[in-house]
Amino acid sequence: MRCRRRHCYARVAGLLALLGCIVLIIFFRRIMDEPTFEKEVAATPNHSPTRSLVNGTLVSTQPALRTAMGSNRSLAKEENAESFLKVEPYKYIINEPDKCRKNNTFLVLLIPVEPHNAEARNAIRKTWGNESVAEGTVRLFLLGVKDGARDSGLRDLQQHSIRAESQQHRDIIQQDYVDSYYNLTIKTLMGMHWVSRYCPNAKYVMKADSDMFVNTEYLVHKLLKANVPREMYFTGYLMRGYKPNRNKDSKWYMPPELYPSGSYPTFCSGTGYVFSGDMAKRIYATSLSIRRLHLEDVYVGLCLSKLNIEPMLPPNEFLFNHWKVSYSSCKYSQLITSHEFRPSELVKYWEHLQKNKDRACKVPKTQLAKNNAATLHQAKAVLNPAQ
Ligand SMILES: *[C@@H]1O[C@H](CO)[C@@H](O)[C@H](O)[C@H]1NC(C)=O
Ligand SMILES: *[C@@H]1O[C@H](CO)[C@@H](O)[C@H](O)[C@H]1NC(C)=O
Ligand SMILES: *[C@@H]1O[C@H](CO)[C@@H](O)[C@H](O)[C@H]1NC(C)=O
Ligand SMILES: *[C@@H]1O[C@H](CO)[C@@H](O)[C@H](O)[C@H]1NC(C)=O
Ligand SMILES: *[C@@H]1O[C@H](CO)[C@@H](O)[C@H](O)[C@H]1NC(C)=O
Repeated sequence: MRCRRRHCYARVAGLLALLGCIVLIIFFRRIMDEPTFEKEVAATPNHSPTRSLVNGTLVSTQPALRTAMGSNRSLAKEENAESFLKVEPYKYIINEPDKCRKNNTFLVLLIPVEPHNAEARNAIRKTWGNESVAEGTVRLFLLGVKDGARDSGLRDLQQHSIRAESQQHRDIIQQDYVDSYYNLTIKTLMGMHWVSRYCPNAKYVMKADSDMFVNTEYLVHKLLKANVPREMYFTGYLMRGYKPNRNKDSKWYMPPELYPSGSYPTFCSGTGYVFSGDMAKRIYATSLSIRRLHLEDVYVGLCLSKLNIEPMLPPNEFLFNHWKVSYSSCKYSQLITSHEFRPSELVKYWEHLQKNKDRACKVPKTQLAKNNAATLHQAKAVLNPAQ
């Protein structure tokens, strides 16, 4: 009897241990799985476009950023600066003239980044900027020089480490203009110049900000489709019907002296846009006859307008997002850009997506369509608050 009971205890204990193990496994799987990402993203505003349309005017929805960048002293300087570019106004301090020599470049990634932000560069190298992700990819970081008027010691130190980084990775180009937010147009045009001069046979180019998540693999997959134009092609998140912001305190302020017209042509959000390789040369050449404006994406839109090339809608409206899309491996396996990523987040999301992309979309297609419709609805509400 006793002996039997002991036997019974042992069985119960065994069962309990097994149950405990199962519970633990389930618990850890949940921790390792997506919900943690979802929660984290939910904590930050779900859709926080950096710009939106209020009464048809470009406004910033980020007051903190606005005050940080809002000092319009730099803008005043920019207004007085030379308004037209010379053919090659700035000299290369660091260049990679041979990066495209193999002549099989499919996609050039142009990534403007502040000189000091090595952390962002390293995160991008490990993630969407990894040239092994898709064959024929070339990654280039675009840099100006830190304004060293006040602290030349710091500037020299920084320049020293940039040179070392460049020698290690061979993915930095830098010219001798002041690296500042209001000089982003110069920086982008440097990229266009580089492609037209050193990589004229590149099939496509993407310009993406350094705080973006880019699904390079999906982008290449989309670009390889037969119906994508090989020339005169420009796409991204389309900004249609925007008017210049005349509020002097806004990040998007456009002085009437610089741009008198009451509306902008259609342009693509500067967070990330894609174009066929031939466009680099066309845009650069056209830019020489268009007064330089500090709003880089608007400016590129003006160049396109002068070229009579209308930016095209991407194959679907959820590919290019200029806000942060809440994470799920399914959504992220089918988008091209999402915005506002810290370097550590970028690495985390990227690694998760790489592990899960092949079985990412277990969700039925109808549910996915529903989600997309909801996102679209929210996006429209942001853009047209009156509706
Ligand atoms: C938009 O326009 C309406 C009517 O013209 C006005 O009442 C409202 O204050 C405007 N909103 C902003 C944010 O300027
Ligand atoms: C911006 O510059 C204008 C002159 O161009 C000046 O009147 C205004 O006070 C400045 N605003 C800020 C916030 O510095
Ligand atoms: C590169 O490719 C282009 C067009 O495909 C061709 O015209 C050119 O001669 C090639 N250049 C070299 C160096 O192979
Ligand atoms: C880039 O990707 C390749 C292949 O997936 C991998 O072996 C390599 O470690 C990656 N590079 C970096 C810097 O993460
Ligand atoms: C842009 O760069 C030019 C050339 O270095 C410089 O003269 C100008 O002050 C810069 N503009 C701003 C707003 O930093």
